[in-house]
This record gives sequence, C-alpha cells and structure tokens, in this order.
Amino acid sequence: EVKILNESQTPPFTIEENSDGGDDLRMKYRYLDLRRPPLQRNMELRHRMAIAIRTFLDKEGFLEIETPYLVGSTPEGARDFVVPSRMNPNQFYALPQSPQTLKQLLMVAGYDRYFQIVRCFRDEDLRADRQPEFTQIDCEMSFVEQEDVLEIFERWAKYMFKDVMNVEFSEPFQRMPWIEAMEKYGSDKPDLRFGMEFHDITDLAHGHSFPVFDDAEYVVGFAATGCAGYTRKQIDALTDYVKRPQVGAKGLVWIRMDEQGNLKSSIDKFFSAEDLKAIAERMEAKPGDLMLVLCGKKFKALTQLCALRLHVGELLGLRDPKKFAPLWIVDFPMFEWDDETERYYAMHHPFTSPKPEDVQYLESDPGRVRANAYDFVCNGTEIGGGSIRIHDAQLQALIFKILGFTPEKAQEQFGFLMNAFKFGAPPHGGLAFGFDRLCSLFGGSESIRDFIAFPKNNAGRDVMLDAPSTIDQAQLDELYISLVKPE
Ligand code: AMO
Repeated sequence: EVKILNESQTPPFTIEENSDGGDDLRMKYRYLDLRRPPLQRNMELRHRMAIAIRTFLDKEGFLEIETPYLVGSTPEGARDFVVPSRMNPNQFYALPQSPQTLKQLLMVAGYDRYFQIVRCFRDEDLRADRQPEFTQIDCEMSFVEQEDVLEIFERWAKYMFKDVMNVEFSEPFQRMPWIEAMEKYGSDKPDLRFGMEFHDITDLAHGHSFPVFDDAEYVVGFAATGCAGYTRKQIDALTDYVKRPQVGAKGLVWIRMDEQGNLKSSIDKFFSAEDLKAIAERMEAKPGDLMLVLCGKKFKALTQLCALRLHVGELLGLRDPKKFAPLWIVDFPMFEWDDETERYYAMHHPFTSPKPEDVQYLESDPGRVRANAYDFVCNGTEIGGGSIRIHDAQLQALIFKILGFTPEKAQEQFGFLMNAFKFGAPPHGGLAFGFDRLCSLFGGSESIRDFIAFPKNNAGRDVMLDAPSTIDQAQLDELYISLVKPE
C-alpha cells in the first residue's frame, strides 16, 4: 500500500550521489542538495566530530561558555560586519571575528579552562577554505605555557583522528619553526604529504652573467621527483602556471637530470656542466628529477615556488586526501611590516606575547621579535592557531604602541582588557581550530562549503534566502540611516 503524504514537483537537478545540477542551482535549492548522500554523510560527520570535541574537552575539565555575538568593533584583523543599534542611534555593534578578548576575560574571571564551538564573522575575500561566517573550536586555559597548550591539543587532535577517522598517530607531531617552513616549503602551512623541499642556490646562481639571476635577491628551487621525462610542452605548461597572475612569477628555469645523471637546462648558455652539477648536488637531485628554479625577492620567490610545488604534487598524485600529515608551526615572528601603510601589524593578534628572550628588541627592532604563537597545520591547510597571551597591562600597552596606537586610542578600543589585567590576571593562553576546515580535512574535500548546511557563495550571498537584501525605508528610518548610492 502506498499512501501519498505530499506530492513533489520534479526537482531541478538529480538528487543522487553525483548531481547534474550546477553550483548556483544547487545553492538555490540547498534543501534539495542537502538530500544527496554525500551531503548527508558530511552533516553526519560534522555532528559526530562536534560530539567527540565536547566529550574530550569535558573530560579534560573545559567548560563550554557562550559569549555574545553583538560586540564592539575593533580595528585590528579583518573587516567587521556591523549591526546598527536602534536603541542607540548612530551606534553600531560588530559581530565578533572571534571571541578572543572575551575568552581572555573569562580567564581573568577565574574560569580555568574554557571552550566554545562558536560562530565567527569576518568580512574578507572568500576562498574555498573561507566563509564570511564560520565556526571555531575556541579554547583558552589559565596558568599554562606553550608546551601545556601543545600537549593537550596534540592529544585532542590524535583523539579526533582516532575516534572519527580511525587513524592512529603514535609519534609526536613534528614541530617546525616558521622560518624553516618558509625556507623549505615557501609557506607557513606546508603540505608534508610529500617531500620536494626547497634549496637556496643564490650563491651558486650569481656571477654567471645571467642577468635574471644576477639581479635577483634570492634564487631557490626544488627537484621534482621523476619529472626529467617531461616534454617541452609539459615544461611550458609549468612555466605558464607560474606566470599566472595568481602566482606572479616572471619565468621558470629548469634543469633536467636524465637517468644517466646527465644535466641539461634552460640556462646552458650561462652555466657549465660543472656549475649545473653543483646546483644539482645542492638540490639533492636524483637521476630522473627535474629541477625547477625561481628567483626574485626572497619571500615572494618562496611563495611562488610553494604554488609550483603544490601544483607538481597535484600532478604527481601526491596530495592524497586519505593521507594526513599534521604538524605544529612554532616561533612565528611577532610583527609583519606592511609597506603600503608603513606600519607593523601583529602576525597573530595584538594580545600575543613575545618570547621572553626577544622582549629586549621590542622597541629597537620589532621585526626581530618572535612570538609565543603556534599553528596547527595539516595537508597544506592552517587548521588552527593560537598563542600565549600578554597578561600584563604595561606590556600590552607597549605592543599597542608598536602597532601604532596612541595611548588614548588603545584605551578607547581595549581599555576593558587592560583594566582587567590590573585585577590579578593569571598567565593564560589558548587557540582556536577552524571547525569547518577540520570537517573538510576529515571529509576529504577542498571546500568547507560542503560541510556547512547553508553556506554563502563566493560573493558572500545566500542565494537561497537571497541575502543580503535591501530593507524597508521604515526600518532605515528607525535606525536613522540614509543610504548613499555606490559609485
Ligand atoms: P585565527 O584568526 O587564526 O585565530 O582563526 C583560527 C582558525 O579559524 C579558521 N578560520 C576560518 N575558517 C573558515 N573561514 C574563515 N574565514 C576563517 N578564518 C579563520 C582557521 C584558523 O586557523 N582568536 C584567535 C585564536 C587564538 O589566538 O586563540 C583566532 O581567531 O582554521
């Protein structure tokens, strides 16, 4: 017997494992897309992970405490989403980019261990692993040093891998200083599922009347494993890849080592067989490898080479989503210099403490100061990050000064925090993991959207709800807001 409870129109796309619907259509009918088995599996995975997170942290004595979504705007970090206040005309709340200062205040308030699975809001350009609203697993602890935080959250990560994925890690996670990650992989979130480390060949590259190298601050390359057989066309495709505006390199130099160990290169005119041999040795190239070399300003060249390394890894099938290569990045610089605004920015955030041995350089050479900050990275994605915080009002005031705040501005923006530090604040620190990113890592997908029930598209729109949208004049009037036509 079949009893029809409700009739359905023909859906706009097939509701199967693989749908024939395009992105926009599926986003518009998200409730139909969510019926598809892969999305059902993703939602279930997310749920199971949330349970595992709470189970572990509860056992370790963390209290789940909620913090407000309507908070004050702060100038650091990404752009805020703001909300006008009807009861306080011409004033705005901001939606939190993270509960950072609030969780620190919970430490001052004596809540020894806090966590929250919490929504955060950032008005920034979107990518596959970024949404304007996303979820953090946000944690903070009192009376801890970096080692304590890394210890407990490494155990947590291993517990998650085991409980949810049945993947076991018996060895400690690798810890890599930031500078090493940059120099070896060109990224502070290196993908360690495969090797092909970088080698600085600046000294070997200079002085051979090859102007491209001679004029470059830094010359760096890696040996692409087993790629010596690449055809001219394949190498041209790699060159085109690095010349794309997203990568931005001017060109690519290659050196081929055939199976007999003979070297042939795009720079044979300038480099003798001996010279090439020295480069090949530096790059630890083996017969059958293709060395790929970029040059330019140090960190620019490194970042461009990182894109190429990941691309080659992809081509060689080395970025297996079922393989996991977690690590900690440590010893971040405290500050980043920005040429455009001519000021320092906090690399993590302004509440991060400097390494005690580097405090002496804070005023004389801020660029040299390293932070008590750490990131949890897996498969080329930053999954989480945190730091040991400043808990001293004076040191906090000094950091604000280096960041270009006048004492008045610092007081206006962060007075609540600096005042709190005057009432016996404990040393504290913590971190936050991107829950959506962790889900997509476990689920083996590049895009976090597949793990969010109702995500936004790349233009920050919810196409199903058709938001954002205009509001009534009456609503605007109530808020004392008048609109200006965009140019
Ligand atoms: P941070 O800004 O590094 O640190 O954020 C922590 C983690 O959140 C995730 N994440 C995002 N995920 C999706 N979409 C986004 N737009 C997005 N932005 C960040 C990342 C990132 O590692 N308060 C500090 C943490 C701390 O110091 O305790 C903070 O927010 O996985």
